[in-house]
Amino acid sequence: MGIEKLVGNAKVIADVCLQFGDTGKGKVSGLLTSEWADITARGTGGDNAGHTEVVDGVRRVSHVLPASIFYDGAGKYSVLGQGMVINLQSLAREMEEIAKAGLSHGNLRISDNAHLILPHHIDLDSKNTSQANGGIGSTGKGIGPAYAEKIARVGVKLRHLYDPESLQEILTRTIRHNFPSMPDRFVNYMVGGYLADIRKDILPIAESIRGKVIDAGSQLRSWIREGKKVCLEGAQGTDLSIEHGTYPFVTSSDCTTNGLASGVGIPASSIDLVLGVVKFPFMSRVGGGPFPTEIGGVEMEKYCAKNEGNRLRDELKRARVSYQESPQGIVYNHNDVQILWMLNQRDGSTQNTGLRLKANEYGATTGRPRRVGWTDAVAARHASQVNGSPQKLVFTKVDCLSGADEFKIAYAYRLPSGSTTEEFPTDPELLRKVEPVYTTYPGYAMTGREREYDQLPKSLRKAMQDLSDFVGQPIGMVSVGADREANIFV
Ligand code: IMO
Ligand code: MG
Repeated sequence: MGIEKLVGNAKVIADVCLQFGDTGKGKVSGLLTSEWADITARGTGGDNAGHTEVVDGVRRVSHVLPASIFYDGAGKYSVLGQGMVINLQSLAREMEEIAKAGLSHGNLRISDNAHLILPHHIDLDSKNTSQANGGIGSTGKGIGPAYAEKIARVGVKLRHLYDPESLQEILTRTIRHNFPSMPDRFVNYMVGGYLADIRKDILPIAESIRGKVIDAGSQLRSWIREGKKVCLEGAQGTDLSIEHGTYPFVTSSDCTTNGLASGVGIPASSIDLVLGVVKFPFMSRVGGGPFPTEIGGVEMEKYCAKNEGNRLRDELKRARVSYQESPQGIVYNHNDVQILWMLNQRDGSTQNTGLRLKANEYGATTGRPRRVGWTDAVAARHASQVNGSPQKLVFTKVDCLSGADEFKIAYAYRLPSGSTTEEFPTDPELLRKVEPVYTTYPGYAMTGREREYDQLPKSLRKAMQDLSDFVGQPIGMVSVGADREANIFV
């Protein structure tokens, strides 16, 4: 039995990450779309996301669009919900790439109520959040400033672009908000400049997508009433949620099932099944902020913050691992003896780099080296609870740790007072001071060609079961390789 075993009778499924993002939501939604869903919708974030899908060895990455866009030709709908912040220039670029690859985007629908990321948001974002200057290390895509204007009720929505008068009025409000003591004539001057830029670079895109712009919430609710099968593709991860993450080291949307439902315009009660995606048995974080189980600790956080000089090519060169450049990116042997040797060193810096190389943990959006560490069950349980039931856990990238001598999972934190807790404190100051209490498991070897649960190594199965018991949700699927077909349904 295949995907039916995972989805059961569900009609609306949310695909969300129980960690800090980059867990394989793109693979899961691609799989759901290709085999099950009629409609796949995004409701949060924007082009800060990097969702990768590999089909027959071909790797495709989407940022603004859901991974479902690759199935447009098969009649599947892709929807960008009103909770997103959309950079129309990024969207146009992605649509162009789709067309160049000989694929279609005729079934893309975009909410007229989605907010826009405008050029000044990107300027503000890169100035304020640089990680090297102690900031959170955002993706630099303008997400925070766009959501800030939305919440301050001065944001620009997609529908405003089709109404020149309201656009001028809204832009005036936006400038007044950003520069409260600026005299009117300067405000008007700035609005003129913004309008000219928008007319030149953004309005032509808005015109070209006009036929796809709809009241997406209403359409989705109607599709759900008709019994259509819907996949909600989450972006980022619960630990990055503005509501439930390690604030202020978070993104600016609620990337949990509640935020996702709200962001596509449906009640959370419409969701029949939550797929909680967990990278396993290791995890990653990009950007600043606490990460209790990080291998190598704060030193490696600093190392990854200086991403220039520490990208994939640099780390391969330093490790003396050979590689080739290809249109699909850098190709190298993840099981190179040097990488395996590094993975099994006990000094944090070498092991951290070894794990990153082994699992190819470099940002799909920014190319930054991702911070890596052991699975944090305390954080995963918190995330799982926030995302609700019924829920199934989806373990991803389990093949990546093949060849490690051992791995660890943190089921508790030791607090500065000396006592231990199994509760996840979202306070970043406290999180920086906790010490994970680990259970160590023996390492394992696997090929990635396993297709039955019983074929998986015993130690991996034990660890997945332990995590599932601790979190209190069943295992739904294990992804044993990047390719869309490399799955075991449990
Ligand atoms: P996907 O969808 C991992 C991180 C950034 C930064 C913080 C805020 O691929 O899982 P932002 O640009 O959103 O204001 O940055 O959030 N971040 C992600 N980390 N995966 C993502 O998306 C992320 N999107 C944002 O690195 O720390
Ligand atoms: Mg990603």
